[in-house]
Amino acid sequence: MGLTIAIDGPAASGKGTISKALAAHFGLEYLDTGLLYRAVGLRMLQGEDPVQAARGLTVDDLDADGLRGPEAAQAASRVAAIPEVRAALVDFQRDFAAREGGAVLDGRDIGTVICPEAPVKIFVTADAETRAERRFRDLVAAGHRLTLDEVLADIRARDARDTGRADAPMRAAEDAVALDTTQLSVDEAIAAAIALIERRSGESR
Ligand code: DC
Repeated sequence: MGLTIAIDGPAASGKGTISKALAAHFGLEYLDTGLLYRAVGLRMLQGEDPVQAARGLTVDDLDADGLRGPEAAQAASRVAAIPEVRAALVDFQRDFAAREGGAVLDGRDIGTVICPEAPVKIFVTADAETRAERRFRDLVAAGHRLTLDEVLADIRARDARDTGRADAPMRAAEDAVALDTTQLSVDEAIAAAIALIERRSGESR
C-alpha cells in the first residue's frame, strides 16, 4: 500500500498549502477533508438537516459556490461538532486514505481518528494573528469584503469550537510532529515538511 500522510492543524495554519505540495512532491492524491464539512455546512445554511446532508453528500457538493468563504467555514465548524455528521463522513475519508498509490489528507482529526495508523503525521500551527492575516489576504483576493478583526474573531471562534467539541476534537496525535509556520515563508514551510517526512519514512523502513 502507498504512503499515507496525515496533516492536521487549525484554520489558515498553512496545512492546505503544505499538503498540496507534499502530494505533488511524493506523487500522492490529496483530500482536503475540511471541504466535506464545508459542503455539509452550506447545505445546512440552505435549510437542510446536517445529518441528512452528510449522509447524502456527493462529489458534486465539493465544488459548490461559496464553499471556501467565511460563512461556509463557520457553518462547517458547527456541523463538525455533531457526532452523526462526523460518523457519516468517516468511510469516505478512510477509503480515500487507503488508495493504492497513497494519499495526503488534511483536517483536524486525521492523525487521531481517521488515520491513526498513518506512518507520518504532522500538526501544523501558527499564531492566531498570523493565520488571520493570511486568511484575510486570501479572502480579500477572492472578492470578500470583511475586516482583519472579523477574520481574527472568526478564526478564534472556530479554534475554540474545533478544540472544545467532545467528538474528535482538534488535537495533535501523540506521534505527530509539530510544525510551527508562524515565522516561515511558504517555501520554507514546504521544505520543512518534506524534510520531516523523509526523516520519518527513513526511520520506519
Ligand atoms: O479546514 P477547514 O478550515 O476548511 O475546515 C472547516 C471546518 O470543518 C473546521 O473549522 C472544522 C471542520 N473540520 C473538522 O472538524 N474535521 C476535519 N477533519 C476537517 C474540518
